[in-house]
Amino acid sequence: MELSSVGWIVIDILWAFLASCFFAAFCAHKISPHVPRGHETRGVHMLFQDLIRYGKTKQSLKRDDWLRVFDVPKRWFLHFYAISVGWNGFLLALYLNFTYQHQSYPVWLSSLLDIITGVQRNESPVPQLSTLLVQLLLCVHSLRRLLECLFVSVFSDGAMHVVQYAFGLGYYIVLGLTVLCSDRVGKGTGTLLSQLDWLHVAGFVLFIGASLLQHQSIALLARLRTGKSGAVETLAHRVPHGGWFELVSCPHYFAELLIYVSLSIVFGGLSLTWWLVVLCVLFNQALAGQLCHDLYISKYELYPNHRRAFIPYVL
Ligand SMILES: NC(=O)c1ccc[n+]([C@@H]2O[C@H](COP(=O)([O-])OP(=O)(O)OC[C@H]3O[C@@H](n4cnc5c(N)ncnc54)[C@H](OP(=O)(O)O)[C@@H]3O)[C@@H](O)[C@H]2O)c1
Repeated sequence: MELSSVGWIVIDILWAFLASCFFAAFCAHKISPHVPRGHETRGVHMLFQDLIRYGKTKQSLKRDDWLRVFDVPKRWFLHFYAISVGWNGFLLALYLNFTYQHQSYPVWLSSLLDIITGVQRNESPVPQLSTLLVQLLLCVHSLRRLLECLFVSVFSDGAMHVVQYAFGLGYYIVLGLTVLCSDRVGKGTGTLLSQLDWLHVAGFVLFIGASLLQHQSIALLARLRTGKSGAVETLAHRVPHGGWFELVSCPHYFAELLIYVSLSIVFGGLSLTWWLVVLCVLFNQALAGQLCHDLYISKYELYPNHRRAFIPYVL
């Protein structure tokens, strides 16, 4: 088996670009304490920090008042998942229509896919089980996160930058299109059932395990703010304990990475495009995890020093 033979296409370049931006931001954050700061670079540093931080890691940032104009509530994270459920549900319905009713995608969608894959082609002639499964799992993931935002997480008055908000909104739209781009290099033949192989099962099992880990971690964070009755008692940030928090500061970020790896496995590990998405999530979550880890270490004197930021025993 070999990686997608289509070569680098527009969507790959986009994901590679985003991954390198997050990697560069991660490196810049790591080296920034060692860079001497003069008056001229102070503004750039503040703007950079304002763009990479959100929520609790932004609260500790000393910044000029005018930058607060660009703040939007971090609780608006739920908009990302609402958009994702709607959009990816819609794309799933189109794919089911194509699979079972042999109906083509709308012209605007086919044209869009032609542009971002750089190849003028109809849908892959045979419906791909991998595509259907990834679309389904993406919808399940988005719906679970939406419900967690609505009914589990307890948000404080944390903020994010409007640029981060716009990125989050666009992210799930592009992600859905990326699944359909990966479909175009699908190699499955025969009926959906006959395409089923052990990689679909392995990816599915990892997806379930990672989703449970993420849910457990989100629930443990919520419990730091609620009493036994479930009523909110505080909006303070506390040291998390239990579950994988004993190993890392942000197990929910590690779970996020595993979820994307699981989808890559469902694609048979063959989609270069999807591995670039995984790389983007890796650097994105590494940056957020490192910021959170640094905050915990600086804020809590007795913070367990064996914990890593987000990948157990590694990072
Ligand atoms: N795929 C991607 O590109 C991507 C990007 C970003 C996030 N995500 C995923 O989205 C999920 C949420 O991410 P996030 O960055 O919002 O997580 P987060 O900052 O840990 O926040 C999750 C929830 O826990 C609360 N919380 C966080 N730390 C706490 C503490 N020490 N004490 C008490 N409550 C605390 C937060 O409240 P506050 O309102 O006070 O923050 C929020 O309600 C994660 O699973 C992450 O993997 C994915």
